[in-house]
Amino acid sequence: MSIKVGNGDTVFLLNTANTSYAMEKGASGRLQHIYWGKRLDRLEDLPVGEQMQYYPFDQPSKKLLTNQEYVGWGGYLFDEPCLKALFADGCRDLDLRYQSYKQSDNAVSETLVITLRELVYNLEVDLYYRIYKGLEVLDRWSVIRNTGTDNIMLENAQSAVFYMPRGKEYRLTHMSGKWAAEYALERINLTQSKVVVESRNGVSGPDSCPWVAVDYRGQADEESGRVWAASIHWPGNWKFVVEVTRVDQVRLTGGINDFDFSWKLHPGEEFTTPKVSAVYSEEGFGGASNAFHRYLSDYLAPQPKAKEMMPALFNSWEVFEFDINMKQQFELAKIAARLGIEFYVVDDGWFGQRDHDRAGLGDWYPSKTKFPDGLDPLINHVNSLGMEFGIWVEPEMVNRDSDLFRAHPDWIMNFPRKESNEWRNQLTLNFARQDVSEWAWGFLDELLGQHNIKYLKWDMNRYFSEPGWPEKPVDEQREIWVRYAQNILELFSRIQEKYPKVILENCSSGGARIDLSMAHVSDMVNPSDNVDPLDNMKIFEGYTQVFLPRTYGRGIGVAPNGINGRVTPIKYRAYLGMLGTFIAGDNLFKYTEVEIAEVAGYIKTYKEIRETTQNGDMYRLESAYNRPWAAFEFVRRDKSEAVMFVFGQSMQFRKIVPRIRLRGLDPESIYKVKGLQDTGPYNKLHLTKELLSGEPVKNVYVERSKELSGKMLMQLGVEVALAGDFDCLLFKFSRVK
Ligand code: DGJ
Repeated sequence: MSIKVGNGDTVFLLNTANTSYAMEKGASGRLQHIYWGKRLDRLEDLPVGEQMQYYPFDQPSKKLLTNQEYVGWGGYLFDEPCLKALFADGCRDLDLRYQSYKQSDNAVSETLVITLRELVYNLEVDLYYRIYKGLEVLDRWSVIRNTGTDNIMLENAQSAVFYMPRGKEYRLTHMSGKWAAEYALERINLTQSKVVVESRNGVSGPDSCPWVAVDYRGQADEESGRVWAASIHWPGNWKFVVEVTRVDQVRLTGGINDFDFSWKLHPGEEFTTPKVSAVYSEEGFGGASNAFHRYLSDYLAPQPKAKEMMPALFNSWEVFEFDINMKQQFELAKIAARLGIEFYVVDDGWFGQRDHDRAGLGDWYPSKTKFPDGLDPLINHVNSLGMEFGIWVEPEMVNRDSDLFRAHPDWIMNFPRKESNEWRNQLTLNFARQDVSEWAWGFLDELLGQHNIKYLKWDMNRYFSEPGWPEKPVDEQREIWVRYAQNILELFSRIQEKYPKVILENCSSGGARIDLSMAHVSDMVNPSDNVDPLDNMKIFEGYTQVFLPRTYGRGIGVAPNGINGRVTPIKYRAYLGMLGTFIAGDNLFKYTEVEIAEVAGYIKTYKEIRETTQNGDMYRLESAYNRPWAAFEFVRRDKSEAVMFVFGQSMQFRKIVPRIRLRGLDPESIYKVKGLQDTGPYNKLHLTKELLSGEPVKNVYVERSKELSGKMLMQLGVEVALAGDFDCLLFKFSRVK
């Protein structure tokens, strides 16, 4: 990792172990992007910015620079701007010129700050660039400063613009989605046009995800190909604009959505944009995700929790919803403990008059009918069974039928003379207001401070409507979007700081508010309200493009599944849970002794392999998008152990799938192969015979040895057979020499 400044302080080269990012101050004083790709070490090898100008024949002025590193809207710059401002005299033209730079470093990172200044007006922009020891991520963000004596209205303030090498043949990958179907991968070829991927509903999802990837000629796959990927750290409205311009610049602009955005910058004030994390990989989408995962695991996610083992959880919602009470929870907890559950989590329904979704939100005290003596008797009982206790809250919302709404009807987002729309019978509290956000901290601090609660699930179940803030001057009311998001991040951070051992789950009707800023302040997520394992094969593939697998809270949901009615075996659901953080949400009262033993076995296996799954590198070996099976592999960083999951789905007949090649092992080491949970590679003949006879299928091994080299496992791969729909396999590979 290094930041080099050369050529008389005009060329800037930022190098990670494998990549380079470079800029140059042109003769006009504008800062110009010159390279982002595989690592180059010599400043002499970098192209000359001034010679990289692309003028169509009718370009009126050669003073303009293409590939400007941070584009102020003004002059002849018609491409997507980074900054748009209105000065007090009505001027809306920006011309940003290089002013100075400074560098700093610490134990984990190096930072470069380049300051630009408007040619005429009192406005400065600091461009931040940060790279990290041992990581392949470049973080960029901007600070916009009013150095004058008049207000400046910001109308658009993006974090950064990135450029891929000039050309036409690029493909964009992004995510689409909706409730219960989040993180769906979409791929389109770029043409001379702009593609906007965004959110404008107040949260980062679920219609999309603040992550995009561009690959060269659409040639990248999981293992190879040139991929440029970026992700915004912002839990509210965000926007990526991916464009190919008339002169074949390939641009990627990202940050807070300028839709309904405005910010009054008073004299002397600064506006800091969110970070955008960028990754370049020559190892395809898998390489890009691996860079994001290591960044999250080693730096961004709350430490040291990000390296500690995530527990096996029970959650009450899917089966019991609002119908919970002390006696029933007492009994359930006993069964959960027998399964090996480590954290027992009571979801919605425990507070106020919350007997349904029409009342109670906002009244954060235990229901007097369901928990007459408060929460402590249940917490003590759960603790006495050897489990920790967790609880659900939805601080940002209020039902009209609640004491809170009756006391503070003005706390909701609203426009004067307009009715505020309800969604799931609830209204959004205006968390941009400091008093509302302080009230939330008050009840959360009391809940966590006065009870032995070690897990908090923070939910948020609607999008914004009527985002008005009538108490503010009209020209500041639109700040509601940004101030709301800032206060949410602040509250999550406060919980992390004061209660560092509490595991904080980020939920928003499933995965509607997941981004790198939330990943910085929470420990795990509910990726979707859809817990069906088949649908989750794809949701997981999308989610893990950027986010850490260990944060994916999933597992044994109810069958038939509440969203799509699909019935899947317990084992299939349990294996899904082992990919991330294991959650049992099934009706434990219905379990037979045989089922209790079976699930206890899966949870035991989860605990045995979680050092590898939760702290190792993940590889998406086979995609459910392409074929009726999916395979995921996790490898410890020291390469001493790997596990591989194979999930069959919609198989038309029992099938030996083509050999699956592992990745990330040490080619020179020898690994002992073990099928877990009585599964393993089957010989097709044996499989057929045994299935026909109705006998349980046993391990039948087709390889020559049970000890195989990393080379063989990665070059030839292992032969696996799936016994039809919903069969799944789990293998462990342990280094023996
Ligand atoms: C939506 C969440 O996604 C669910 O997991 C559950 O917590 C419910 N809200 C509770 O209302």
